[in-house]
Amino acid sequence: MQRASFGSKIGAILAAAGSAVGLGNIWRFPYETGSHGGAAFILIYLACVFLLGLPIMIAEFTVGRRAKASCGRAFGLLAPGTPWKWVGTLGVLSGLLILGYYSVVAGWTLEYVLVSLTNGFAGQGPEDFVASFQTFSQHPFRPLVWLLVFLLLTHFIVVKGVKDGIEKSSKVMMPVLFILILVLAGCSLSLPNAQAGLEFLLKPDFSKLDAGVFLGAMGQAFFSLSLGMGCLATYASYFSSDARLGHTALSVGFIDTLVAILAGLIIFPAAFSVGIQPDAGPSLIFITLPNVFQQAFGGIPFLSYIFSLMFYVLLALAALTSTISMHEVVTAYLNERFGWSRSRAAVCVTLFCAVTGILSSLSLGVWKTTFFGLGLFDLFDFVTAKLMLPLGGLLISLFVGWYLKRSLAYDELSNYGQLKAPYFPVYLFILRYVAPVAISLIFIHELGWL
Ligand code: TRP
Repeated sequence: MQRASFGSKIGAILAAAGSAVGLGNIWRFPYETGSHGGAAFILIYLACVFLLGLPIMIAEFTVGRRAKASCGRAFGLLAPGTPWKWVGTLGVLSGLLILGYYSVVAGWTLEYVLVSLTNGFAGQGPEDFVASFQTFSQHPFRPLVWLLVFLLLTHFIVVKGVKDGIEKSSKVMMPVLFILILVLAGCSLSLPNAQAGLEFLLKPDFSKLDAGVFLGAMGQAFFSLSLGMGCLATYASYFSSDARLGHTALSVGFIDTLVAILAGLIIFPAAFSVGIQPDAGPSLIFITLPNVFQQAFGGIPFLSYIFSLMFYVLLALAALTSTISMHEVVTAYLNERFGWSRSRAAVCVTLFCAVTGILSSLSLGVWKTTFFGLGLFDLFDFVTAKLMLPLGGLLISLFVGWYLKRSLAYDELSNYGQLKAPYFPVYLFILRYVAPVAISLIFIHELGWL
């Protein structure tokens, strides 16, 4: 059977960007930035994206396109009979663990779509938004319904297959989302006292750096770029032979970073304007944004209504392209590894994530048990973003840098000599030395392993 593939080069870029751009940029980036002190964190983040993220992304593309298999099997195929296959397994596991709690937040976006649709934000002020978010997210039942709705949406798109589902939806949604974000950033900057938020975002104050800042920035880079779990390797297995890996990585990295910074430009001016603390944590965008919609459109209710509705719909869709990509990795793994049909594999993934999602959601409200001092939601986030993804990235860079033949890495990067790749030595140097050393040092430094 011929392996499914993306129809065009731009389709490949958009699908990978669709995976990368999601709640990581619009929800997680602002609150990580906010809780690590602003602009100084962003500088470290940018270094992580360009120095570690992009080379590791190309490495993932190399593995996926070369093996023409989902990440769960790709390592085993390229390195038969070696323990490298566990890198793929680690990735599948990370995907499975992220998908559950990620879908909880994705579910929240659906609630906000509904509230926008029924014009429920109208006439409310900053304190009301804080209170209603708390009531909603701690409700024992309501977030669970949205979580399940979201997982089912993901499920059906994944079952429908790669090209129809993923590529088409990304092609339309990504550009629209981008334009809307630009408009909203403009609106937010026009709010009273927006200046303070802008400074927080752009003027580095290194005295604000705290202990977890490097781990936070590195974890955020991996999370936002969808790296370290073979997600992009799996997508690359659907790339055509003339897709340009370096170029695709650069485009995806650029789009992803731009969206994150723009999200910051929406959130922080608005937060400072209405007096919300930037370190409010996971609730940050949900308590800040409704203020932008209510205050920024010159008091014209129709504009507030339409922009808030469009924004939450697009945020939900951006989350959807990301959940699809995670679900796809695990489904493809079960399908290829155990020979289960795609729909059976997908059912198992959905059920598992429904359980972890429900538990994560309850841990934000009624269920108070903590593990290592963290509720389950925060624990999943910490273990995946800050431990498993960077570890996966470390292993992937060692694999491509040291295990794979140098000529193979070069052939994939240059499409068998068709493209010039003068940066190949730098790329290889980063994979061999810079990335492994940097990731290890951050682990050692911030987790106190010395
Ligand atoms: N990058 C996505 C976001 O920013 C989330 C995501 C999708 C992801 N696939 C992933 C994160 C794989 C880590 C690994 O929302």
